[in-house]
Amino acid sequence: MNTLEAIEQRRSIRKFHDTPIPDEVMEKILRAGTLAPSGKNRQPWRFIVVGQDKRAEMVRVMREGIARSKAEGEHPGSSEWTAKVMEQAPITVCVFNEYAEQVQAPKDIGDTLMDIVDVQSVGAAIQNMLLAAQDMGIGSLWICDVFYAHEELGAWLGRTRQMIAAVSFGYPDEQPKARPRKTVAEVTQWL
Ligand SMILES: Cc1cc2nc3c(=O)[nH]c(=O)nc-3n(C[C@H](O)[C@H](O)[C@H](O)COP(=O)(O)O)c2cc1C
Repeated sequence: MNTLEAIEQRRSIRKFHDTPIPDEVMEKILRAGTLAPSGKNRQPWRFIVVGQDKRAEMVRVMREGIARSKAEGEHPGSSEWTAKVMEQAPITVCVFNEYAEQVQAPKDIGDTLMDIVDVQSVGAAIQNMLLAAQDMGIGSLWICDVFYAHEELGAWLGRTRQMIAAVSFGYPDEQPKARPRKTVAEVTQWL
């Protein structure tokens, strides 16, 4: 598959077969993540791979966080639905920014700008992983609903660094149609 085909054909997948993903395939996906460009080549991404043995525990922790967020008056958004997706994905990769703390002290402008750069770099790594997965016939879901449970998941994983997202991977058990996009003309100004 060429790159443009992978970009065109990728969809967010929310139904996965239970078939495990071979370790060597996951290695290739993670390697694609590490090949992303990064500001000052800081490579801020860090990955924790949660497999089938640990996913039930991960989702239980996620649900504890969602329950806490709700008790604090937050609307859970799509997080309860996303937890169900994570429950059946063979692999979920939790993605961290090594250079930011989960609980942040106020920062000066230089550090704030560096944070923005690092988050972009981690986003590039995530997108590389999505496209590498697509190339190998593996579906993926980029997940920020983990934010409802970032304290709980961070503690469970023993990490104090900033959790940027999670990404679930598995062989797709659905073929969603392309979701709508704004046209290039709508989002672009040519000078
Ligand atoms: C930063 C980011 C966070 C996202 N978080 C979630 C999420 O928590 N749960 C979910 O079901 N989808 C999530 N998505 C997937 C989007 O809903 C999806 O990309 C969008 O609807 C377009 O659909 P497509 O990916 O199939 O083109 C996220 C996507 C991105 C890029």
